[in-house]
Amino acid sequence: MRLIDTAAQFSSMLAEARSRALVVGLVPTMGALHDGHRSLLERAADECGFAAASIFVNPLQFDSGSDLASYPRTLADDLSVAEEAGADLVFAPGVEEMYPGYPEPVPTRVHVASLGDRLEGASRPGHFDGVATVVTKLLALAGPCRAYFGEKDYQQLALVRRLVEDLSLPADIVGCPTVREPGGLALSSRNVRLSEAERSAALALHQSLQAGRAASACPGADPASVRNAMWEVLGSRPLVEPDYAEVVDAHSLEPAGSLSGELRLLVAAKVGPVRLIDNLPLVVDEPLTGDLPADSHLRSPRDDPFSSHRPAVPHDRRPDEQLPDKKLSVGSGLVPASDNHQRGAIRLCAGA
Ligand code: PAJ
Repeated sequence: MRLIDTAAQFSSMLAEARSRALVVGLVPTMGALHDGHRSLLERAADECGFAAASIFVNPLQFDSGSDLASYPRTLADDLSVAEEAGADLVFAPGVEEMYPGYPEPVPTRVHVASLGDRLEGASRPGHFDGVATVVTKLLALAGPCRAYFGEKDYQQLALVRRLVEDLSLPADIVGCPTVREPGGLALSSRNVRLSEAERSAALALHQSLQAGRAASACPGADPASVRNAMWEVLGSRPLVEPDYAEVVDAHSLEPAGSLSGELRLLVAAKVGPVRLIDNLPLVVDEPLTGDLPADSHLRSPRDDPFSSHRPAVPHDRRPDEQLPDKKLSVGSGLVPASDNHQRGAIRLCAGA
């Protein structure tokens, strides 16, 4: 595995891989790599002839100087994770390399209107301009590739798909399932800043999503009742300061007008000093499958509603089949793709 820090080397090494007829896989990250990142890297290495990771703590996407300063930086450990996961190259540029003249303001920025303005965009003004700018720059440097992004940051994934389409960037965007701890907490580089009590309080995010799913299976359920069920959990926990709990269309991220089609449940909350986000898919009005309760009209899909964009994987598998465990079993005791297991979330409906 090679470690490089210049944009010119990054571009030329990926071009050189393509000249050897290798498909290039790219995993953009901000480092502090955990098993969620590892799952993306392993998948890129499995599916592509040449797998590259970028590690760059992008100052443009941080809300405050203190958040940027306290973001964990663990390059030596990150290189071990990347190498173990099968990466061929790590691009870890300094800030001057990405933004010459920094900290002078960066004059050219990418803004994805509408999709980037609500939810996280509303709570963190400027955040998605920073994300869109750095991702555009990385993809422009990388050239034709498959780029892997986590569903953990669902709005970011939707925004990246949109900007790639609108700017005709030569990348196939691949969405990857969220990797969770056994209790359901989604892995995040920010989790290291949680105290033990906060970490246990943070389970409220996943629990509220499960409550939302369960509520959607109740007779007469609508987006408001689902949202209320999520708020009930999120708003009732000490140490948890809810920001939003929403039911949205899985593609446009517009608020859902009814419980039909492909939807996504999204939550955000501050737990102690740390802002956390999480989400789950929700598909309603589908025929019953498997062993769900007979009164349920809810089906849990594979995570990615954009699965038609997904490049072919070298497994003969039904579209709704779980990914093989091999791809997702990335660490001791972790629960990847648990979003597909919703039986435990079914509860008695009020009045049922
Ligand atoms: P970062 O938070 O480091 O995440 C890098 C990638 O890992 C993102 O695509 C994110 O969705 C994915 N990821 C994080 N936690 C995950 C989990 N528990 N399960 C699965 N995937 C997970 O997201 C960013 O960096 C930045 O915004 C970036 C896209 C690199 C632009 O700066």
